[in-house]
Amino acid sequence: MYAINTEKKADYWEVEALFDLCFAPGREALSSYRFRENINPISELCMVARDDEKILAGAIRYWPVKIHEYKALLLGPIAVHPTRQGEGLGALLIKDSLSLAKELDYSRIILIGDFSYYGRLGFKKLTNIKMPKPTNPDRILGIELISGAWDMPSGSIKSSN
Ligand SMILES: CC(C)(COP(=O)(O)OP(=O)(O)OC[C@H]1O[C@@H](n2cnc3c(N)ncnc32)[C@H](O)[C@@H]1OP(=O)(O)O)[C@@H](O)C(=O)NCCC(=O)NCCS
Repeated sequence: MYAINTEKKADYWEVEALFDLCFAPGREALSSYRFRENINPISELCMVARDDEKILAGAIRYWPVKIHEYKALLLGPIAVHPTRQGEGLGALLIKDSLSLAKELDYSRIILIGDFSYYGRLGFKKLTNIKMPKPTNPDRILGIELISGAWDMPSGSIKSSN
């Protein structure tokens, strides 16, 4: 069993270590990190999953971004410890945080990731949103928390705070 709670200050370095373990070295060079530099994550939506022994098993963070004047949430990083992958924890972290985002009146989420994973969770390819190169456009995915939230003129994602 996992307990999912909001990430606290004391969790920070443990979560960073989990991301370092789960992603290729140099994760902070990814183009999506340009939208996270010098910007605080949305603390209410950053979550950690711990097991009964309080060992960190997974974590997810969200950042504020915008496209034109439309606010959006950038999902990620998300990671599940390699020994806990495939148990549904990644999907649980995403579903729980998306429900909370909806309660908090956010309407649209964007991420850079594999459609084969996120497509099962309801994410679709966003053909009208651009990210800096070398992002593969097929990996720009989004989900609407309010119907029609991604119906907007084509535009580039920008950081926001
Ligand atoms: C991606 C990640 C968060 C998924 O967490 P998880 O708890 O293992 O995921 P779930 O248990 O919800 O789902 C597991 C399923 O997703 C599949 N899956 C996992 N990562 C995938 C990917 N990148 N592309 C396609 N399918 C993927 C698994 O093969 C498994 O498939 P199955 O159900 O058919 O066996 C986890 O694998 C991870 O931390 N990976 C390393 C970091 C990473 O890539 N983060 C995402 C960046 S976009």
